Amino acid sequence: MKIRAAVLEEFGEPLKVQELDLADPGPKEVLVRLVNCGVCHTDLYTASGVDPSGYAPTVLGHEGAGVVEAIGSEVTSVAPGDHVVTLFSPQCGECVHCLDPRTNLCLAIREQQGKGYLPDGTTRLSRDGEEIRHFMGTSTFAEATVMPEIALAKVDPEAPLEGACLFACGLSTGLGAAMNTAKVTEGSTCVVFGAGMVGLGAVAGCRLQGAERIIAVDLSEDRLELAKGQGATDVWVGGEDTVEKVLAETDGFGADYTFEATGNVKVMRQAVESARMAWGLATMAGVAGKGETLDVIPRFLITGRRIAGSSFGTVKGREGVPKLVDLWMQGKIDVDPFISHRISLDEVNRGFELMEAQDGIRSVIDF
Ligand SMILES: NC(=O)c1ccc[n+]([C@@H]2O[C@H](COP(=O)([O-])OP(=O)(O)OC[C@H]3O[C@@H](n4cnc5c(N)ncnc54)[C@H](O)[C@@H]3O)[C@@H](O)[C@H]2O)c1
Ligand SMILES: [Zn+2]
Ligand SMILES: [Zn+2]
Repeated sequence: MKIRAAVLEEFGEPLKVQELDLADPGPKEVLVRLVNCGVCHTDLYTASGVDPSGYAPTVLGHEGAGVVEAIGSEVTSVAPGDHVVTLFSPQCGECVHCLDPRTNLCLAIREQQGKGYLPDGTTRLSRDGEEIRHFMGTSTFAEATVMPEIALAKVDPEAPLEGACLFACGLSTGLGAAMNTAKVTEGSTCVVFGAGMVGLGAVAGCRLQGAERIIAVDLSEDRLELAKGQGATDVWVGGEDTVEKVLAETDGFGADYTFEATGNVKVMRQAVESARMAWGLATMAGVAGKGETLDVIPRFLITGRRIAGSSFGTVKGREGVPKLVDLWMQGKIDVDPFISHRISLDEVNRGFELMEAQDGIRSVIDF
């Protein structure tokens, strides 16, 4: 079939929206008609050419939500008409990681996905016979996509897809960092560094876990306002003195849980140093630049602080995303404030510009 899609032709250049060919799904694959897709930093990171693993041409996009249109002969868990959220982090349910509750890093299709291919090593995307590679196994800046069955989460059909798409990446990452990775306990004190999509999700996750005090730290007053809406009890403008402030507010001990959602390694260090002596857990969700390292004084660890990393909030996508969407449908998560702009596929480059200008949290494409 013919689809319109936003193609990264050359790094550092605007995406070009054009017509492509999309082949039928293979036996274990699904054709999804996209309804909405968020524009995320990772798309821009790859488009800019900074991502060392990036390649072109490819169809970007990974925060997708849509409706199943057709399924391959061996697909059993989704059917035409189902509403789905796309997963760049799949869940095969069978690999050693899927069988272990400690991780969501499914091993099934990593290698091919990283190279831009579907699990059988080929693509469904092409242009005049020339192969176009997939991106993050999703390629959702397109009217339709073909994805492995194991990379789709079936969600409540009542959930509006313009909000559901945010659970494909940033929102689940933040919520999960607090709920799954850190497993924040009731009555605890939490500090969240960064109040973008991921940090705001972490604030909401801390609230849902029953944290008593949630301190959100950001440089932007607008974003701190949004953090209040998600349940932050204190909002601070970040700076060199943030660690001292946390210690001063916690009898000199530090916070039970800290979260890093800026991607800045200096802030990561602050997150470690403001975690509580004896049991404080610092969870890193931000992605640092290539080659950057995190400076940690070992004494902080000897005296009981711990550091965890969190990819997609340790959410096992097929099971976890529908549950998070259900929490939203039950009124426990306020998703609307995250959708700042609604744009068309043709305006996808404007989505990047808005993101660079830090104008709003997410631009969502309407197909
Ligand atoms: N671990 C994962 O699976 C995963 C998934 C998605 C995104 N990420 C990463 O998470 C990070 C956050 O993503 P996002 O979409 O929320 O980004 P964002 O840019 O919208 O938010 C980052 C926030 O950090 C704030 N900030 C910057 N410097 C700061 C400082 N010194 N002190 C306090 N706040 C500061 C900014 O004002 C901004 O509000 C990025 O690094 C992103 O790559 C990780
Ligand atoms: Zn993303
Ligand atoms: Zn697996």
